[in-house]
Amino acid sequence: MLFPDYRPRRMRKTEAFRRMIRETKLSVDDFILPLFAIGGKNVKNPIKSMPGHFQLSLDNLVKTAKEAFDADIPAIMLFGVPDKKDALASSAYAKNGIVQKAIKAVKDKLPDLAVITDVCLCQYTDHGHCGFVEGNYVDNDTSLELIAKTALSHANAGADMVAPSDMMDGRVAEIRGTLDEDGFSDIPIMAYSAKYCSAYYGPFRQAADSAPQHGDRKSYQMDPANSLEAIREATMDIEEGADILMVKPALPYLDIISKIRDESDLPLAAYNVSGEYAMVKAAEKMGWIDGQKVMMETLTSIKRAGADIILTYHALEAAKVLND
Ligand code: PBG
Ligand code: ZN
Repeated sequence: MLFPDYRPRRMRKTEAFRRMIRETKLSVDDFILPLFAIGGKNVKNPIKSMPGHFQLSLDNLVKTAKEAFDADIPAIMLFGVPDKKDALASSAYAKNGIVQKAIKAVKDKLPDLAVITDVCLCQYTDHGHCGFVEGNYVDNDTSLELIAKTALSHANAGADMVAPSDMMDGRVAEIRGTLDEDGFSDIPIMAYSAKYCSAYYGPFRQAADSAPQHGDRKSYQMDPANSLEAIREATMDIEEGADILMVKPALPYLDIISKIRDESDLPLAAYNVSGEYAMVKAAEKMGWIDGQKVMMETLTSIKRAGADIILTYHALEAAKVLND
């Protein structure tokens, strides 16, 4: 097909034509809205670097969850901001922990909204690492037990799905085994399979108060330079029983999304993380970009790369655009 026989512009001439040949269509069905739960009543602490997002006490969290449900967003992802941290992350798996209470509060009012929980220890450990620290090293196998215990406590509280984000080796199998033993063989696992050690998590660590107090996460999260390793990580998670794979962050790792899409037929999620969101909001505020258009273009790109599911702080805003 060569010019002048073929003229691609012919099919770009009208909006009707463009609609007919559009390959990627965003839908509210694609979105998961992340929310931050904190104790107290009527609390709505703005997260400075994530305009439009707040640490929410349960009353307000349920209100925002209802907005998501009313906008036809199928699921939320819960993060907890606990009032107590210790070496064993005990409030991560406490029966009355903040996430456990948030799950109950949301499921009580909105039984048809899917509640997914982030399973990790970093918000709950006094050192801020995602696992159990021995000396200065995050010990893999000791961490597994605590992580599986956390996932189980979420299932016990009524979570519809758990999403381990710790990047310990073997955690999907450990969680699967623990859930199955306790009668939760029907609870799916969305594995943060290729989670990179990224500076794009900066705003989230403010939001969740989860920055590591010493060192960094390079000994467990992936090196941004690697892509074959992402395939190995995804392959392990598939074999260990993951139901959904995830790539995180999204925009700087579209190549990874595309590769994993080619390797696996499992549903694939991508996490459009806090720093990606913050950059759009900041540039919009400066008047340098059209924030809404950049948001829709970004989300479309993530889907075009191969993601079926997008975790995004833009979910409510983008749903509004799609629903209007
Ligand atoms: C916890 C966790 C993080 C994010 C999701 N789960 C932070 C981290 O690994 O430091 C980041 C989400 C975001 O930036 O939006 N392990
Ligand atoms: Zn963590």
